[in-house]
Amino acid sequence: MRVLGIETSCDETAASVVALDADSAPEILANVVFSQIEEHAVFGGVVPEIAARAHVEALDGIIEAALADSGTSLDDIDAVAATAGPGLVGGLIVGLMTAKAIAAAAGKTLIAVNHLEGHALTARLTDNVAFPYLLLLVSGGHTQIVLVRGVGDYQRWATTIDDALGEAFDKTAKMLGLPYPGGPNVEKAARNGDATHFAFPRPMKGSAQPDFSFSGLKTAVRQAASAIAPLGEQDVADICASFQAAVSDALADRVSRALKRFRETFPDEAQPTLVVAGGVAANAEIKATLHTLCARHGFAFVAPPLKLCSDNAAMIAWAGIERLRADLGHEDAFDFAPRSRW
Ligand code: KG4
Ligand code: ZN
Repeated sequence: MRVLGIETSCDETAASVVALDADSAPEILANVVFSQIEEHAVFGGVVPEIAARAHVEALDGIIEAALADSGTSLDDIDAVAATAGPGLVGGLIVGLMTAKAIAAAAGKTLIAVNHLEGHALTARLTDNVAFPYLLLLVSGGHTQIVLVRGVGDYQRWATTIDDALGEAFDKTAKMLGLPYPGGPNVEKAARNGDATHFAFPRPMKGSAQPDFSFSGLKTAVRQAASAIAPLGEQDVADICASFQAAVSDALADRVSRALKRFRETFPDEAQPTLVVAGGVAANAEIKATLHTLCARHGFAFVAPPLKLCSDNAAMIAWAGIERLRADLGHEDAFDFAPRSRW
């Protein structure tokens, strides 16, 4: 099976070809990602209208590049899989309509993929993780713990009641005058900071409710920052380090609750696994915290390589392969309209 994947739900224009041949491990034949970060950086965040136009301009060339990189032509492709939601509707329209046009013209199967399903199944592409497993998805738009029981069979155990974790990183960076995207810059600044300097709250810690919350932490950061004038480089470093420590601590509390619930739900599961996905999974401190937590609870910890954790089209092509194999969700794909909320 060879599937062309297309991803345009946010500010990455991406195309990929993934192959799965009988009795061998899946192979990413091409994975081209064009980041629009520079076009949005001056605005301090993604501007939907600019994103949609940039997708229009870039997508054809990115698909051509992916096909060339993979050494395949459209003739060798079995199906075209595109992100159909959730995300910014302008980008979704560009990606899904392009996929429909290619599939219709070349007589290929079309698969409408949920972006979150792409993130959820990536660990099976990289690490052959078996169902069921637990997924922590931490990105700019989502903060969720999901039980992954099978292809198309998901149960959300926790979500954020306010900001997504990546969003909290991005807003913290903005308050401190650090450039967009905030996550990597907060992490970098935190390396020179004292994580005990500010006693920021650990939102939801100890709460019986499974969900996440980050807006209170964001307010605490704003108050700390506005109390210092002028804000020096060391102050910024200390705030970043203290913020990251609070986030890691809060995350550990929420995730350990889910690990316990997984144990109770699947007492016979010999090697339970926690998979982390989404752009925030790039954060070394967060990854180390999760690693330690998993070791303590007897869980295997799987973090796909960075390139496949943040937005990309290989995860969409792979979700397409998984859906084809499971014979799911491609019957009426040509009628499928993009869903900004899905
Ligand atoms: O998954 P992703 O590439 O895009 C979506 O949001 O779907 O995630 C991007 C998010 C941004 O909020 C960014 O600031 C955050 O991931 N991020 C990080 C780091 N690298 C990226 N957050 C914390 N630490 C990082 N090193
Ligand atoms: Zn994403």
